Amino acid sequence: MDYKFCGNSGLQLPRISLGLWHNFGDVDDFSVARDMICHAFEHGVTHFDLANNYGPPPGSAESNFGKVLSQELKNHRDELIISSKAGHLMWDGPYGDGGSRKYIMASLNQSLKRTGLEYFDIFYSHRYDPQTPLEETIQTLIDIVKQGKALYIGLSKYPPEQARQAYLMLKEQHVPCLIYQDKYSLLWRHPETNSFPLMKEFGIGFIAFSPLAQGLLTNKYLNGIPETSRAAKDHGFLQINEVTPQVVEKVKKLSGLAQKRGQTLAEMALAWVLNHETVTSVIVGTSSVAQLKDNLATLQNCQFTPEELSAIEQIIS
Ligand SMILES: NC(=O)c1ccc[n+]([C@@H]2O[C@H](COP(=O)([O-])OP(=O)(O)OC[C@H]3O[C@@H](n4cnc5c(N)ncnc54)[C@H](OP(=O)(O)O)[C@@H]3O)[C@@H](O)[C@H]2O)c1
Repeated sequence: MDYKFCGNSGLQLPRISLGLWHNFGDVDDFSVARDMICHAFEHGVTHFDLANNYGPPPGSAESNFGKVLSQELKNHRDELIISSKAGHLMWDGPYGDGGSRKYIMASLNQSLKRTGLEYFDIFYSHRYDPQTPLEETIQTLIDIVKQGKALYIGLSKYPPEQARQAYLMLKEQHVPCLIYQDKYSLLWRHPETNSFPLMKEFGIGFIAFSPLAQGLLTNKYLNGIPETSRAAKDHGFLQINEVTPQVVEKVKKLSGLAQKRGQTLAEMALAWVLNHETVTSVIVGTSSVAQLKDNLATLQNCQFTPEELSAIEQIIS
């Protein structure tokens, strides 16, 4: 595994991190989930990305991760970077969603209980909440660090202007934002203009979610929708109508390029994200150990020739 410093901080993250949004809930096979977590750790993936609502049902990914931690990785806590988040709907009523102090503190305490952890390494505000003053959300994150319930703070899915204000507030109070998490892939490039300049200005790390566009950037959907795929599952976030003929056409061309590089499309798609100097790590979500192995093989070739980059650019632009 290769590691990279997260922005200007002293924390190194693995270039490939494992996310538990799908495939680790109570609806999934626990033994597969356990094997993926163990295989990842054995191969240097020290960073595991959670959130309060991951499952389904919400909360179950944290509980299952806690189970694996206590059964298999008990003696390795100090070798792990475990993150969680609050910001999306978690429970009914006015205190189970958003960015209020009431919700974030309660949710963090629930997440610690479910995972059996004393602290998270990184705790995120999962999204910007326009109904809560930004100061309230950010002060809550600062207090979480001061209370020892998280070591570092991250933000996810904030509009650039609010992100900038938040970074300034955090810096002023000596709890600088460690990392920003957003969607980034060959099919979704908004961070290049919306986030990367801010990352550079503030010395913040960037971690990409859905780097394979939830599976679209693999060979999986080239000939229809496989029965066991995320798009086919009722609880999968990828919708069948997102698998359009135009996307499949692009993916076929990308797959041809990957073949010429001697990589799978998944490997090339991850390598392309990692090739951007601002990107600290990619968070992959996998449904099997075989997929994880494929994704880890990416690190054998993350370099691109200028010709390859321009051929990719022609396909995706
Ligand atoms: N901050 C946020 O708001 C936010 C939002 C979304 C995600 N995230 C984080 O980012 C993580 C990753 O997101 P994601 O799951 O959408 O990532 P992704 O890596 O783009 O998609 C994962 C899916 O792609 C398929 N896949 C992965 N590797 C493959 C391979 N080598 N060959 C063939 N198919 C492969 C699998 O689909 P099948 O299941 O069909 O096999 C897998 O479930 C999440 O777990 C979460 O931690 C954060």
